[in-house]
Amino acid sequence: MSFENLLTKTENGIHTITINRPDKLNALNKKTVQEIGDAVKDAIAESAVKGIIITGAGPKSFVAGADISEFVGLSVEQGKTMAKAGQDVFKLIEESPKPIIAAVNGFALGGGCELAMACHLRVASDNAKFGQPEVNLGLIAGYGGTQRLTQLIGKAKSLELHMTADMLTAQQALQFGLVNYVVSPDQLIIKCLELFEKIKTKAPLAIAGVIASVNAYYTDGVNGFDAEVTEFGKCFATTDFKEGTTAFLEKRKANFTGK
Ligand code: COA
Repeated sequence: MSFENLLTKTENGIHTITINRPDKLNALNKKTVQEIGDAVKDAIAESAVKGIIITGAGPKSFVAGADISEFVGLSVEQGKTMAKAGQDVFKLIEESPKPIIAAVNGFALGGGCELAMACHLRVASDNAKFGQPEVNLGLIAGYGGTQRLTQLIGKAKSLELHMTADMLTAQQALQFGLVNYVVSPDQLIIKCLELFEKIKTKAPLAIAGVIASVNAYYTDGVNGFDAEVTEFGKCFATTDFKEGTTAFLEKRKANFTGK
């Protein structure tokens, strides 16, 4: 599928989605949000894809937020619809059974910070900046930011960032546990691929089970321990479980097929 505001490519099983509006610092207009959802669905459905990288075009910005020009004149109901549409796409990312890494190559503000937080892992370049500056516009975060930032860095710092609109440097984001790694810009994609080289050698259905179980911790009305029991049990019906245990006993590397 081709997109108006995204570039996509698959290489060695890793699908890269690049948000491509560099003149607008990759701000997320409605069309881009919808295209991200479509691109992620495509990548999940494509059996050759083992992992997904989401990044922004250009050296300056991952995503500088939702497209502010589309906010003008919205009603309460239209504002709610906009937030729900973004939240639905970001939930799709969070619940993807295939691992998704945000390669944060600059500003990750508002919807950009929220997009990065919906991914499973975050690698930031050392020029990245994170923040939820919506209060500067008389708004609050609408794409899950009040929830995911609180989950990732705790209530006190989350409230502070949402209320002050302050930005975190990449190093501060690392210190607060918002990102997994900080690297130089030229190493950003290389670090993501290095993480995928490890993950790709593991059983894909087990990786999906890890994602579902960890997500269950944050899901209202779901007991995460029960979810873990279910996901653990499901592994015993897989060919990869048999391959993994047999390979261990035979002292060889497992060759997983995702079945
Ligand atoms: N929505 C729409 N357009 C945006 C945007 C956004 N969130 N963020 C940046 N842009 C556009 C600017 O309007 C400008 O477009 P123009 O050249 O047509 O005027 C272009 O991207 C470059 O941005 P500019 O502000 O000139 O770059 P800068 O380096 O001076 O500042 C930022 C960078 C990120 C600090 C600044 O763009 C900014 O504060 N953006 C908004 C961040 C925000 O509030 N995000 C949350 C939205 S809910």
